[in-house]
Amino acid sequence: MKLTIVGSGYVGLVAGTCFADSGNDVICVDVDASKIKALNGGKIPIYEPGLEEMVHKNVREKRLSFSTDLAAAVSQSEVVFIAVGTPEGETGDADLQHVLSAAEQIGKALKRYTVIVDKSTVPVGTADRVRETVSRVTDQPFDVVSNPEFLKEGAAIDDFLKPDRVVIGTSSDQARRIMGELYAPFVRTENPILFMDPRSAELTKYAANAMLATRISFMNDIAQLCERVGADVDAIRKGLGADKRIGYPFLFPGVGYGGSCFPKDVKALVATARDFGIEFDLLRAVERTNDQQKRLLLNKAARHYGDLSGKHFAVWGLAFKPRTDDMREAPSLVMIEGLLGKGATIAAHDPVATQVARRHFNDRVRYTETPYDALDKADGLFILTEWNEFRRPDFDRMKKLMKQPVVFDGRNIFDPFRMRERGFVYFGIGRP
Ligand SMILES: NC(=O)c1ccc[n+]([C@@H]2O[C@H](COP(=O)([O-])OP(=O)(O)OC[C@H]3O[C@@H](n4cnc5c(N)ncnc54)[C@H](O)[C@@H]3O)[C@@H](O)[C@H]2O)c1
Repeated sequence: MKLTIVGSGYVGLVAGTCFADSGNDVICVDVDASKIKALNGGKIPIYEPGLEEMVHKNVREKRLSFSTDLAAAVSQSEVVFIAVGTPEGETGDADLQHVLSAAEQIGKALKRYTVIVDKSTVPVGTADRVRETVSRVTDQPFDVVSNPEFLKEGAAIDDFLKPDRVVIGTSSDQARRIMGELYAPFVRTENPILFMDPRSAELTKYAANAMLATRISFMNDIAQLCERVGADVDAIRKGLGADKRIGYPFLFPGVGYGGSCFPKDVKALVATARDFGIEFDLLRAVERTNDQQKRLLLNKAARHYGDLSGKHFAVWGLAFKPRTDDMREAPSLVMIEGLLGKGATIAAHDPVATQVARRHFNDRVRYTETPYDALDKADGLFILTEWNEFRRPDFDRMKKLMKQPVVFDGRNIFDPFRMRERGFVYFGIGRP
């Protein structure tokens, strides 16, 4: 099939590449000319494991190309995906300006029946708004389908190629058949394609992210309680997860959820509910807990050291989670700004997010090549992202490098008892 993907970010680039890899002819379009230039020069503008090789392979085999010319791409395509950003608007709702601008440009470029797919995360009713926008500028036949994306950064290709489910919201038989054919290669192991109406598809995406965020905030509140009563949240996590009704995923407490999705999607769902006369108090509490959690280690450090001014800290992990360079809404942003604001200095290491971090902090932070370099003369270490390479360090070497052997483990990657045996002052989350 001939496809256009409008928006070549984390979702658009992965989706376009995976569709190309299953034999389709794909043009990825973006308004950002520098991004398209980089892609055409063989450079991948984001870090996502396995993506670079897959892009190169499909470009070489001439199934994947990149362009800023939306009209030319759309005019040759049977299916056009909108995968542009839907950032948080002023009142917490999703800002649809990029989606609707893309829809208008797509409408103007239509040359025949085309399926237009909302892949971006968009509020209930957006498929209708996209349909109205396109209708205003074309007489060509088209259908609008809602097909929210559930991939996780860091495992995006695997998630796209082997999705737990594909959600397709449409009331058109023709669009349903085309979308079913397009996704058939990815659902060969009984993982379902769930066809539904567009509004349900739109809401499914927000409900999924809001529920995952709720599990995280729930565990963070349990962790707080553990610290007060002298219980161990990790033991509780195991006790909870073993219950089949609950399960293990998303029960890890930490320094709060971040990323480009959970924070804005929880806010957008609260805003949608409010538009329809419902106060979603549960989700407001989820957000409140998360905001507090991002400052938790800062408060622990202030209690431990008293004055933070003049102290020097190491930070391991800048990305909002491992295996990505994405720092949107990362807990590290709040932590590092907090420490700098109190007069501390920082040396930070992240395996892939340093370049992105420079855009946030410039030279206010020193970035190091290795985790150990960051520890030199540090009064303490903050672990903010659970990269695998941080899990089994040389503890003796760490102690020798640090001025004070104090560890604030925001991801509970170390065992508190072993850390104290090794001579560290150790602070975890919700553990005695
Ligand atoms: N990142 C994720 O893990 C993830 C997962 C599932 C769903 N989503 C959703 O997918 C959508 C895209 O997210 P992302 O992380 O890929 O965003 P992103 O910011 O990485 O990429 C969006 C791209 O769209 C481009 N763009 C904006 N307006 C355009 C236009 N009119 N024409 C062409 N290109 C345009 C931007 O230049 C940018 O490159 C969002 O709605 C997000 O909520 C994201």
